[in-house]
Amino acid sequence: MSKKKKFISIDKRLLTEGKTLNFEVYESNESKSAMTLFLQSDSVLDGTAKIQLREVEQLYVDEMGYEAYEKYITQHIQTIVKDPELPLDDKAAVLYESAARILDKLFQDPESLEALQESKEVVNGFIEAALSDPGAVQSLMKITAHDYYTHTHSINVSIYAICLGTYLGFSETALSDLGMSALLHDIGKSQIDYDIINKNGALSDEEFAQMKNHAAFGYDIALHLGITDRGILSGIRHHHEKMDGHGYPDGIEKKNISRFARIVGVCDVFDALTTKRSYKDPFSSFDALALMKKRMDTHLDMDVVDQFIMMLRDRE
Ligand SMILES: [Fe+2]
Repeated sequence: MSKKKKFISIDKRLLTEGKTLNFEVYESNESKSAMTLFLQSDSVLDGTAKIQLREVEQLYVDEMGYEAYEKYITQHIQTIVKDPELPLDDKAAVLYESAARILDKLFQDPESLEALQESKEVVNGFIEAALSDPGAVQSLMKITAHDYYTHTHSINVSIYAICLGTYLGFSETALSDLGMSALLHDIGKSQIDYDIINKNGALSDEEFAQMKNHAAFGYDIALHLGITDRGILSGIRHHHEKMDGHGYPDGIEKKNISRFARIVGVCDVFDALTTKRSYKDPFSSFDALALMKKRMDTHLDMDVVDQFIMMLRDRE
């Protein structure tokens, strides 16, 4: 007896007119007892098919096609973000899901050029959303995950950095570089012992010494990936430098720390404080920023902290 195919439901609103599908799309028959082919692989979604889509309640792909479907979403993410019929919160959710998938891939294989390319698509999707509609910044910030994991932390930091850069009027190129730098800032953690990364509590001195290597490891990975932009590289290498020179890995201070690294540093601390860890409850945004102002003034760039506060205040 043949094994029964498994089908996974998909969001039909994300199928973009004029684009080739490289997976098969199915609909269920009326009694929902069987699947029939709705669109063949390699077909281009034309206007007629798009209209037909409206009539169908739910579409599916088989297990084999799901990966291709996910890649297709990422590939067309900027078109999806521009779709006037898709609500902002749904756009933010699609962006976040794509980013989470890519970060998983990148942490498993930090030399994957395909994942790097896909990261760029998603970062540009975030930017497209942040620039297109003032409400999008709110949708993006609302969707940041509230439990701390290295991958979701990276996405959150990228969203905060892009929102801050947008608030400060950065050019699209600068936003794209800043977003990439923030997304990849902890990629060096892929080289650190899993038990240290996921330790439930404070690290020993030796473990902390190992953990600190992630900044320089991340820089090396970025170089391997062919990243040459000094801003992107410095955000990765120097996000743990401190204004007083007591940070790592290079112990540089003040304006020797690039603007990208100072922004990523602030967004990094803000997200670490406002997400829940197994050993601590999350701080509210207000309490996190108060703590950053009071206790981290020798560590973080207070101008950036103030700009971050103004951005949060203005979006309310
Ligand atoms: Fe870090």
